[in-house]
Amino acid sequence: MAPRNQGPIALPEPSAEEHAHSERVSALIRDEIARAGSIAFSRFMELALYAPGLGYYAAGKRKFGAAGDFITAPESYPVFGRCLATAVQSILDQLGGGDVLEAGAGSGKLAATLLRELAARGALPDTYLILELSADLRERQAATIEQTAPEHAARVRWLDRLPEPGFRGLVLANELLDAMPVERFKVAADGVKRMGVTWRDASFSWVERPAPSIVAERVHPLMLVPGYVSEIGLAAQAWVRSIGERVAAGVLLFIDYGFPRAEFYHPDRATGTLMCHYRHRAHTDPLILPGLQDITAHVDFTAIAQAGTDIGLDLLGYTSQAAFLLGNGLDEFVRASVPGNVREHLALTEQVKKLTLPHEMGELFKVIALGRGIERELSAFALQDRRLRL
Ligand SMILES: C[S@@+](CC[C@H](N)C(=O)[O-])C[C@H]1O[C@@H](n2cnc3c(N)ncnc32)[C@H](O)[C@@H]1O
Repeated sequence: MAPRNQGPIALPEPSAEEHAHSERVSALIRDEIARAGSIAFSRFMELALYAPGLGYYAAGKRKFGAAGDFITAPESYPVFGRCLATAVQSILDQLGGGDVLEAGAGSGKLAATLLRELAARGALPDTYLILELSADLRERQAATIEQTAPEHAARVRWLDRLPEPGFRGLVLANELLDAMPVERFKVAADGVKRMGVTWRDASFSWVERPAPSIVAERVHPLMLVPGYVSEIGLAAQAWVRSIGERVAAGVLLFIDYGFPRAEFYHPDRATGTLMCHYRHRAHTDPLILPGLQDITAHVDFTAIAQAGTDIGLDLLGYTSQAAFLLGNGLDEFVRASVPGNVREHLALTEQVKKLTLPHEMGELFKVIALGRGIERELSAFALQDRRLRL
């Protein structure tokens, strides 16, 4: 991750085609601003990322991998998916079977890896459901599965909306919650402000408006000092509640970067957690390059746990990505590869480093599990469980 407040941002110049695309996204957002004078940042983020056919995730941009803007664990490090298969298998075993529902499946690589790995263990789910907001990514997911796990393609089904109540199985999402629109707020001497976006002097700029009670009520108990700027992931919390209500028996497993609340709203983090990615450069200005760059916010895992427990789910586990992967067979995959091909083995150890070292993805990324009707402790968290820190 790039350091915060790094001054002027040196980003690669978008192509003429990219400029034209961004201008269309900008025009759409400006239209909405023109009607109201300003819009909440959450709405800006929603349009910039998900406006149908135009937003960053909704249009055809490459996004993931070396030729895109950022990498994610399942995209670049297949051993991540293999470890996850260990967790999926033990959860489905405990449930006596069921479906897997992956939300926000990106390019479809994790789905393909999981299907192959679970098949090899004779542990396939009844159906592998995918819930994906972006029509473009749905097509890409279908193509990935068709190309790399064709024998399992018939088991995959895309949902147009959240599943009907009564779902049994595992809901799984990697880097979904950080991609959901957030409210940005500022603590001022005269109360909490909601940060909005307006159009001024030919660019988008920030405005501060009195915060609605839904934001102010969340910020007051945090006891933050004037000048403190941060985010609240109301959309992610609402989404967890909505999907959790539909789970009759099963587990929700989210992997994402973030912290427990006390660390999220730490005095040292007084400019918030927004991060943007454009062609592998990370920076903190979400108001530029609309439609061309990813915009994310870290996850407040205490809020996610509360969203689940509010609707009667149990908090089943919380740990770092490193501990989770090691607790789900990572070292066994490495041991098994030793006598084999040296190049493959080196590639695997490189994946392990990226996924587990504390200054890479190992510590910043966390795994949280919520569930209903789960009687036994989840073995997936046996190595380490930090639930008490939430
Ligand atoms: C940062 S990408 C992560 C993709 C993939 N899981 C990975 O780790 O490579 C976020 C994904 O979530 C999807 N997404 C965002 N909001 C969603 C929602 N409410 N329902 C379903 N998918 C959503 C995006 O379209 C995209 O596929």
